[in-house]
Amino acid sequence: MGELFRRFWLPVLMPSELPTPDCPPVRVRILGEDLVAFRDSSGRVGLLEERCAHRGASLFFGRNEECGLRCVYHGWKYDVEGTCLEMPNEPAESSYRQKVKQNAYPTREYGGLIWAYLGPSELAPELPALEWALACPDQRALFKWEYNAGYLQGMEGEVDTAHLTFLHRYFDRSFAPGNLNTLVDGAPQLAVQDTDYGLMYGGRRRTADGQGYNWRVSHWLLPTYSLLPGDFPRGGRCYVPIDDEHTWVFAYYYHPHRPLAEPELARLHSGLSSWPALIPGTFRPAVNAENDYGLDREMQRTVNFTGIAGVSDQDRAIVESMGPLYDRSKEHLGTSDVAVIAVRRILMKLARDLQKGIEPFAPSHGDAYRVRALEAVAQQEDFGSFAEAHMERLRPGDLVMAP
Ligand code: FES
Ligand SMILES: [Fe+2]
Repeated sequence: MGELFRRFWLPVLMPSELPTPDCPPVRVRILGEDLVAFRDSSGRVGLLEERCAHRGASLFFGRNEECGLRCVYHGWKYDVEGTCLEMPNEPAESSYRQKVKQNAYPTREYGGLIWAYLGPSELAPELPALEWALACPDQRALFKWEYNAGYLQGMEGEVDTAHLTFLHRYFDRSFAPGNLNTLVDGAPQLAVQDTDYGLMYGGRRRTADGQGYNWRVSHWLLPTYSLLPGDFPRGGRCYVPIDDEHTWVFAYYYHPHRPLAEPELARLHSGLSSWPALIPGTFRPAVNAENDYGLDREMQRTVNFTGIAGVSDQDRAIVESMGPLYDRSKEHLGTSDVAVIAVRRILMKLARDLQKGIEPFAPSHGDAYRVRALEAVAQQEDFGSFAEAHMERLRPGDLVMAP
């Protein structure tokens, strides 16, 4: 599965982690690999293997100076491509420098994030044309935090619309994510449709007034993004594996037509909605396993289903509570788990195909990612007819894009 992930561009850092040329380098662990990122004197971002090609000292301790990162053990210096620029402990006339290369991965700054490609260089993929990434910067907000569980556990929560009715229930409905209809019907009919970019799935619920159906259509995009429905601004999350048991969550929130308003940003940064509050100076959420995610039994009796205040904290508490890598052979999957099953089926198929030498389609088709989630009340009973009737709203062309 790691090989499959290495076929895609993946978000790896917030630009704020490398704010200026020659700023301090940062450690990046991703897909089980330890790397160091730095921004050189001309502003380019390098992503190098952490251990120096000479004798393995960590380049995290390196000096970021004059367009290169210099190992402080013996002074070898590398540029953003891993080319060895200087070897001051070798004779001046030596050409040994040209034979040594520090392993390096290409990076891009795109959609307000720093991305990396860790796959074979001859297969350079396209960046995904996700709407939030293409939108004007003031129309989106981005956030990052750490998750102590494998990426798929988090991702499975994203494609599990049934949990909204329970995990995120507030007894006072005005706080609830999703609309009234998600509260009325806790057993939605689910349907899944495979797509070029992953899958689209519809959850059909009875409406509160019994007129038509409330459809929530979400997308799961390869290898690891969600797009969730609801009123704009809204967004989803990307789960980038740090290793088998830890994950970076990158969250995006956007409006396709206008800048985000102050109250919308304030709500996001409150720690109570889509994003957690962080321990200052880290990407670790302030409520976490050590404090039982702030569980308050009185709140659980009177305010909401969980007794945990923040919506994203509710998700993380429950996903981490399964343990860092849950043994899926112990599960008992039901009818509401069809999207979870479909995501696993697609990932497993693509990983097996890759072992046979069949490359995935999505990495080289960035335009396939330009889709939108949708929530609508409609008369269509089956997902196919609903999706067909609403194709223009699922693949709209009215995004206000960055110049
Ligand atoms: S280990 Fe880096 S220069 Fe020697
Ligand atoms: Fe959730």
